[in-house]
Amino acid sequence: MLKILISVSELIKTYITGRTNEKGFDMCGIFGCIMENGKAAPVIHASMKRLEYRGYDSVGIATVSNGKLTVKKDQGKIDDVHKIVNLDDLPGSIGIGHTRWATHGAPLKVNAHPHVDCNGETAVVHNGIIENYAELRSELENRNHTFVSKTDTEVVPHLIEEAFKKNPTWTLTEAFVDAVKKLEGSYALAVISAKEPDKIVCARNESPLVIGVCEKATYCASDLTAFLPMTNKAVMINDGELVILTPGHYEIRRIQDGSEVIRKPEIIDWTPEMAVKQGYPHFMLKEIHEQPETLRNTLRAQGHYLDLLSTFLDRASEVFLVACGTSYHACLAGSYMFSKLAFLPTYPVYASEFVEQHGKSVNIDSTILAVSQSGETADTLGAVMCSQQRAATILGLTNTVGSTLTRVSRVYIGQQSGPEIGVAATKTFTSQLSVMAQLALKLSTKRGKCSQDEMDTLAEKLELLPETVEAIILTQEEKVKQLAKKYRDAKIFFFLGRGINTATAYEGRLKLMEIAYVPAIAFPAGESKHGPISLIEPGFPVVFICPKDGATHKTLIGNIMEMKARGASIISIIEEDDEEIKALSDDYVEVPKGIPEVLSPIPFVIPLQMLAYHIASLRGLDVDQPRNLAKSVTVE
Ligand code: AGP
Repeated sequence: MLKILISVSELIKTYITGRTNEKGFDMCGIFGCIMENGKAAPVIHASMKRLEYRGYDSVGIATVSNGKLTVKKDQGKIDDVHKIVNLDDLPGSIGIGHTRWATHGAPLKVNAHPHVDCNGETAVVHNGIIENYAELRSELENRNHTFVSKTDTEVVPHLIEEAFKKNPTWTLTEAFVDAVKKLEGSYALAVISAKEPDKIVCARNESPLVIGVCEKATYCASDLTAFLPMTNKAVMINDGELVILTPGHYEIRRIQDGSEVIRKPEIIDWTPEMAVKQGYPHFMLKEIHEQPETLRNTLRAQGHYLDLLSTFLDRASEVFLVACGTSYHACLAGSYMFSKLAFLPTYPVYASEFVEQHGKSVNIDSTILAVSQSGETADTLGAVMCSQQRAATILGLTNTVGSTLTRVSRVYIGQQSGPEIGVAATKTFTSQLSVMAQLALKLSTKRGKCSQDEMDTLAEKLELLPETVEAIILTQEEKVKQLAKKYRDAKIFFFLGRGINTATAYEGRLKLMEIAYVPAIAFPAGESKHGPISLIEPGFPVVFICPKDGATHKTLIGNIMEMKARGASIISIIEEDDEEIKALSDDYVEVPKGIPEVLSPIPFVIPLQMLAYHIASLRGLDVDQPRNLAKSVTVE
């Protein structure tokens, strides 16, 4: 309990200064590596590849050796830039790297990181946004500093240079602190300098930063998957902290007063293999196939925290389920589970709309369950901060231990999906649904809303879902591949479901849009006749999600007939013995029978994930790094 109190008070101190709803952060990947010996550049290059899902507009590396800084950078993806400049060929055992998702300054070489000072002695990489960079820049230009880029980041090396001018006896750390204290906004920064070629200094404010340590080397990164092949000893860095890295050592200090912070490394139970493709053509396909395993892991989620969370939900007078994208779809499905199993009304809300929709009414009696696999999505954190300022209770569901969401949550639960590299969320979605179902069952038990038999049956079916999903992948993928071939050039799709599978329909649509760039529309099937059906023409592909259990099966058949009457091509996701819908469908994919409707989104979404994947792959698209997207959206 003590640990939680400290972090919340620190956080409130940070946020009472009215920093919520500010313009968000730049989302990139930073990495630093300092070793006793050996070349740092190849290590940085390989680690940047593991961070490339955070942004891939440009890449750059800087190293320091023999008192000299070397910088290589260019616009484009790491593999393409490497072909031109050879990112492995920089001297020295100390270096920093950056992969960018541009906000300030176009994705051009001149705006690529690392940025250096006028003398080319100090190099900086940055993830975040420096809000007051414009005034800092004009001050520095008035002091004859020359700027070459349009970025906010470039003020940092010049501020360090200016600090050294102000006090030449200062160490790099002292000059860095002087510079950082002038910054407003968010940052994860890493700095090296030819002036002090034996350390890396880095600092964090609101953007993620984690340190990896082993015997002869130390690393800093935006995400621990970057250094996982080298070490699973990770140290989470808090806002307002700086870290001095030397080979095998790290020293944490508070930026404000320089006081030392003692923090031991945590052992991360992820294996490096979990972060590489293991022979799959894409991370997304690997992650789809990992779901039987990740669902087993999620069923091992810590019971104690499930109990704690369900106690908070049980006592709450109003519950908002807040998230973005795929995580929002898990919230939508969760709201059906909570009301159907525990008679608990909950309100799923798009995080980007929360402040506008509920910012004024959320209060001390409100409970927010924020869901985010990365734990860093700015819109979701923005909704959480707004609610926290109004004393609401914050609960968290995330896949990333140590993320900001885990820091701001009164209680959070880790969903145990392992690292998800593909930008399109797959295994994290089914894990989120499994946690929602486990919470709803616990709540139902607490509230005595279901008979023991019902509870036992549901619990048993939930335990069986990993095998169910395994059977779908093994027996249906070939069929889905044929479907993808048939519909690869379709211009538009409808995804329809009823009840809890409205959420599954939304998720199927999002997957197809985000990786295959196919326009798709999803809505509750009952809404068809209130407008969308006017779009239907012969051959128009309409995907129906049709569990056999529950009240929706009959009405869904009516909706299928409506579409069929206008010539639509019916693609149904059905239970294996559902002859009625099979007869109405042009194509169908089967899932094992006997799945309770309230759990059905988990197995029924698998064919939709596979359909989107195979259409995108047939189209030769970059499935793992779709255009215009990034894995962790840290911009509001
Ligand atoms: C889903 O495939 C997308 N990557 C995106 O919609 C994502 O779900 C959304 O950005 C939320 O991310 P989070 O779960 O990390 O908060």
